[in-house]
Amino acid sequence: MQQVGMFKELKKIIKKTYFYQLVNEASHRRAHKKWMHNSLCEDGLHEYGFHGDRYLMDLADFFLSQSRAFVETGAFSGTTTCYVARKFPNIEIYSCEPHSVSFKHAVSQCKKYRNIDISKTSSPKFLYELIMSLPRIKSQFNTYFLDAHGFGFYCPLLDEVRFLTNNTNSGVLIIDDFKVPGRPEFGYDYCGEQEYSFDLIESSLCKSKEYTIIYPAYTERTSQWHPLRGACVIVFGADDFLLPENLSRNFSVIKKAYNKNR
Ligand SMILES: C[S@@+](CC[C@H](N)C(=O)[O-])C[C@H]1O[C@@H](n2cnc3c(N)ncnc32)[C@H](O)[C@@H]1O
Repeated sequence: MQQVGMFKELKKIIKKTYFYQLVNEASHRRAHKKWMHNSLCEDGLHEYGFHGDRYLMDLADFFLSQSRAFVETGAFSGTTTCYVARKFPNIEIYSCEPHSVSFKHAVSQCKKYRNIDISKTSSPKFLYELIMSLPRIKSQFNTYFLDAHGFGFYCPLLDEVRFLTNNTNSGVLIIDDFKVPGRPEFGYDYCGEQEYSFDLIESSLCKSKEYTIIYPAYTERTSQWHPLRGACVIVFGADDFLLPENLSRNFSVIKKAYNKNR
C-alpha cells in the first residue's frame, strides 16, 4: 500500500519535470502528424467525427439535430469539432484544449467555421467559465462531448459529470472511451488507475434527475482508424426520452432514477 502511494508521488514529480513536458509535447506532435495524415478526406476537410464510428456518429447526429449547442472538452486536432460545424452550421460550438500544439492545430483546422469557439483552457474550468459567461447554456438542451483525457493532464471526467448534471437543466453527455458492460471487445480508457465505467461516474450524477443511459449494442467496426471503442451516452432532464426505432436497434438503453428524497 505504501509502495503504491510512493509510486503515485513519484509519478506526480516526474510529470512536473522539464524532460516529461518535452516528451509529452513530442508525443502530441507525433499523434497529430499521424492523425492528420490518416483523417483528411479528399477535399481537405474532416469528414468524420467521433473517431469515425458510423453508429456513434448517427447517434450523435440525432442529439445534435435537437441541440442548441455542442460543447466538447478536449479538442485535440479539432476533428469532431469541424465535423459538427460542417454538418450543423446553425449550432453554437464551444471546445477547449489546454495543450499548445493541439490548440494551435485545432484553431487552424476550424478557422473556416464561424460557429466554433475554442479556448486554450483545461476542463472543467472551461465548463465553469462557459456557463458563467453564457448563463443561457444552463436552460438549453445541449450535446456535451466529454473527451478530455490523456497527455499527462488532470482527468476531469468526474468533475465534468458532477458540474453538468447539477448545473444545467437538460442535455446529453457523450463520454468517449467508456467501458461497455458485458462487451469487452469495446476498448476504454482510465482516469488515473480507474476504468472509465458507470461505477466510476455514478456518484457524480445529480441524484434529483432521471437518466437514460445508452451503450453500443452493435458488433460491426466502422472506423477506418480504430478498433471498436466504447462510449456511454447519458440523457438527463428529459424524463420521457425515447430513442427512435432506427437507433434503438444498435444501442441498448437503461433508465435510471434515484430516490429524490435522499
Ligand atoms: C482523445 S483527444 C480528443 C479528440 C477530439 N475530441 C476528437 O474527437 O477529435 C483528448 C484531448 O484531450 C486533451 N485533454 C486532456 N486532459 C484535458 C483536460 N483536463 N481538459 C481539456 N482537455 C484535456 C488532450 O490534450 C487531448 O488533445
